[in-house]
Amino acid sequence: MNALINWLDNRTGLKKLMHEALYENIPGGARWRYVWGSTLMFTFTIQVITGLFLWTAYSPSTTTAWESVYYIQHHMQFGWLVRGLHHFSASAMTVLLALHLMQVVIDGAYKAPREINFWLGLILMQIVLGLSLTGYLLPWDQKGYYATQVSTEIMGATPVVGPQLQNLAQGGPQYGHHTLTRFFAMHAGVLPGTLIAFIVLHIAVFRRHGITVPDPDHAPATTFWPDQVLKDAIACLAVLGTVLTLTIWHHGAELAAPADPSEAYSAARPEWYFLFLFQFLRFEWVEHQGLAFGAIYLPGALMAILAAMPIIGRWKVGHAFNVTFLFVMMVGIIGLTGLALKNDAADPDFIAAVKQAQEDSIRMKSIIEPPPEGIGTGIPLEGAVSLLRADPKAQGPRLFARNCAPCHRYDGHDGTGREVVKIEKKKDGTKERVKENATAADLGKFGSTEWIKAVITDFKGTFSALANVKDKDGNVAESSKRFLEGDMSIWSASHAQHWRVKENEQALTDLVAFLHSQGQRKGAPGISDEAPKRGRQIFETGKIPVGDFESKCTDCHSLQPIGEDKLLGEVGAGPSLTNYGGKIWLTEFLKNPGHEKFYGSGNAMPAFGERLTEKELDLLVRWMVGDFE
Ligand code: HEC
Ligand code: HEC
Repeated sequence: MNALINWLDNRTGLKKLMHEALYENIPGGARWRYVWGSTLMFTFTIQVITGLFLWTAYSPSTTTAWESVYYIQHHMQFGWLVRGLHHFSASAMTVLLALHLMQVVIDGAYKAPREINFWLGLILMQIVLGLSLTGYLLPWDQKGYYATQVSTEIMGATPVVGPQLQNLAQGGPQYGHHTLTRFFAMHAGVLPGTLIAFIVLHIAVFRRHGITVPDPDHAPATTFWPDQVLKDAIACLAVLGTVLTLTIWHHGAELAAPADPSEAYSAARPEWYFLFLFQFLRFEWVEHQGLAFGAIYLPGALMAILAAMPIIGRWKVGHAFNVTFLFVMMVGIIGLTGLALKNDAADPDFIAAVKQAQEDSIRMKSIIEPPPEGIGTGIPLEGAVSLLRADPKAQGPRLFARNCAPCHRYDGHDGTGREVVKIEKKKDGTKERVKENATAADLGKFGSTEWIKAVITDFKGTFSALANVKDKDGNVAESSKRFLEGDMSIWSASHAQHWRVKENEQALTDLVAFLHSQGQRKGAPGISDEAPKRGRQIFETGKIPVGDFESKCTDCHSLQPIGEDKLLGEVGAGPSLTNYGGKIWLTEFLKNPGHEKFYGSGNAMPAFGERLTEKELDLLVRWMVGDFE
């Protein structure tokens, strides 16, 4: 063994090198406050190793980036672990950088002759931030896609060269394939390469001047090995433990739905350590000054003060100023971060957007994975983004929110879980969210047995929202009166006492079952089951055990039972109930609710035959009737 070492030493000078590295003198003894530099090196090493593993599976293109990250997260052996470690050690690195900077400033380690090394450190910090910024886009998910656009917009706001800079980073005027390849080249090539070069310089210059000891009499002098190495190792283990815990807790790192340029994403936020800037840019007075002020000039000025610290610190009061300045800056950053989190937590739109984003992400997995976990569609060649676009469960709510929520509600919300509100500006300039009243029925239960039962037994109540439609004199609009005071409303009110009789309970259930079976929804009874058969009798004859109908359903409604060609009743006062609540009825109705088969001339609901494409109509209707897996 010794011979081998001697052989190596003879040829490389290994022993001297090791000695220099390990037996560096530390006056004042080993201290915990010196560990930050080592922990930073350690996290960077984790980044490099996990980064290389990620690289083996990552594929940068707009149709494969998300897909390959999905593979890493859900299919690659320990892929989630590698990805999580990479993600959370990036966060850890930012925290450690801040701590390292604070220790350096507090201990006065930036002072002459160490100015250059301090500046090298500031450059290192910029590179690390650049690494996390570029990394955020690489999964090409909604979150990274929309958050990174804010960063490139900021680039574009740079004076003079802004637009060119933005073009260069994006690889064109808009986001696309080349944005990804460029960001990846930066993230995995240019930036880490530069970082390593600067780390070498940083450490070399550091070695030249040695450690800055605030109080050399603290303890007897020692050497790096073993005292300080032990402390450093313990600190690194603590960092690793934290990062591992976070990774296991989150089972890797979050992957939102694939980036969709056609679908704005209001839940987009930058990584948490940029939240302070995000929050700062949201202040009205900052917004008023323009993006360049808040995102370039001001942070630039702060960086300039940081860079000037070695010069300011030549005087005693200068050092005190530096320490105070850094402290105030940190408190400011933490305060702004807290404010950003607080604002988001109190913003119902943001909460709903996050919830929808999570649902999308879970939905993607269940579309892709094979049964029993999911539907087993897999990922098509054109990329995963097409899956969500063709999914009724994902698109239905969005279509409803855009097209129907101006009048209808869905279980009280707009379909996607958001309250329907308008923002009113009050006299003192503050804005207030005011709940908008619905002007048509809540369709959350439309076509279900509950809905049908409510229409029959309490028609006026079911359509009560129509009373919110007012004419120009402030009275209930004529178009609403037909629902509130029309034939069916009167019929429903005058027959309400029948349904309170115990003997008629079964009859009502049967009648509802009959109509429900005609909708042919999932979970609806078959048309030849006993209950629908009995219900059909009631529908046609109006005969119930106690008290008869004054007029029967077929007097006003027509209905062609599923699978038959004879029409029950005839086209009359009420809408056709053929396949009522089902796919066919709903599609035809939405295309033209004013058709004489439906509401006829008094109709107040817009026709969607032209407003929506066949595809959109299909997605919306399938969502409403629950026709999806
Ligand atoms: C301009 C307002 C308005 C919009 C927008 C609108 N509707 Fe309606 N809709 C009505 C009115 C009014 C009625 C009749 C009474 C009612 O339902 O409250 C109606 C009736 C219906 C009905 C029949 C069931 C019922 O409640 O009588 C369905 C189903 C329906 N709408 C679905 C939709 C869907 C789906 C959309 C979006 C694609 C939509 N509506 C958009 C106003 C609107
Ligand atoms: C006197 C005529 C009349 C009778 C009898 C009648 N309806 Fe209606 N019904 C209407 C009218 C008219 C409407 C449409 C709303 C309006 O214009 O007031 C309607 C609406 C409906 C709707 C809601 C359609 C929609 O917009 O979603 C259903 C369901 C319904 N009726 C079922 C029945 C059933 C079941 C019976 C028998 C138990 C029945 N109706 C008896 C006239 C009648």
